[in-house]
Amino acid sequence: MAYPKTRMRRLRATAGLRGLVRETDLRADRLILPLFVCEANTLSASGSDAALPALERLSISAAIERAHEAAELGVGAVILFGVPAHKDPEGTGAWDDEGVVQLAVRALSQTLPELLVITDVCLCEYTDHGHCGVLREDGSIDNDASLELLARTACSHARAGAHIVAPSDMMDGRVGAIRSELDSEGFASTPILAYSAKFASAFYGPFRDAAGSTPAFGDRRSYQLDPANGREALREALLDVGEGADMLMVKPALAYGDLIAAVKRETRLPVAAYNVSGEYAMVKAAAAAGHLDEDEAVLEILTSLHRAGADVVITYHALEAARKLATAR
Ligand code: PBG
Repeated sequence: MAYPKTRMRRLRATAGLRGLVRETDLRADRLILPLFVCEANTLSASGSDAALPALERLSISAAIERAHEAAELGVGAVILFGVPAHKDPEGTGAWDDEGVVQLAVRALSQTLPELLVITDVCLCEYTDHGHCGVLREDGSIDNDASLELLARTACSHARAGAHIVAPSDMMDGRVGAIRSELDSEGFASTPILAYSAKFASAFYGPFRDAAGSTPAFGDRRSYQLDPANGREALREALLDVGEGADMLMVKPALAYGDLIAAVKRETRLPVAAYNVSGEYAMVKAAAAAGHLDEDEAVLEILTSLHRAGADVVITYHALEAARKLATAR
């Protein structure tokens, strides 16, 4: 039935009607806040930028404070990234039981036992060359030699009390390697959130400054996905399902809505979208220049990712968004 019998505007006439038929309801507990925890002597070396407050490096006690704020606002989880004091060729700091992430996880589980803590599992913040795996002499990344180190790292995080581990390195076979190591170390119940469709993106710049993980040479295109490839991203997601992933991630988010929808449709797993640092920086810069209303833009972006199929969204806007959601409508 067409116009004039059908009038789409009938259900848009009042806030009450719009609320009644709204299809997507964003909730604070669907948001995950990233936190950069660092050892004291890396604080001053921070590339932190006052215009990007959520990318600030935090001491463990400052991270606990921010996590506390997140918990009070009903944010669903935090995801931790470590900025170690020492880096070496293998990234040994990654699986150090006394490493900065491990210490932060333990401190968080003592002070905020109810808060879900996710850890990013990768070597790039811990290697002196800044790549996500083991470097061969010829400058290439040794996939298979990296797997054991990643599995060791995930176990160390689980031992410290991480509730979910999230490998972001994009090595082949890492989900399976991590799953079997977790299982044999007594962590059969620890879920894996796989960064399955992670693209070699221009939108990671501010993160790399914050985490100090810019590659010393070359780029990450031999392991991260080509932004032109959607089918390949779906193959990655399906392979991770086969290796035992519990949740799948698409990253970045804004330019990859088609893949959020496709991964959701083609798998039966919960999907996470990572609203990355460059996306955060774009909104912050536009708002600072007076080009858009930050709160409105943020809620529109996060709602669109949820609508596209993301069950959860990792976002640097989590605190402000949760605050806004608590007072909205
Ligand atoms: C580590 C990692 C990166 C991000 C999350 N985990 C950087 C990269 O792959 O270069 C990026 C997150 C962001 O930009 O917000 N491998």
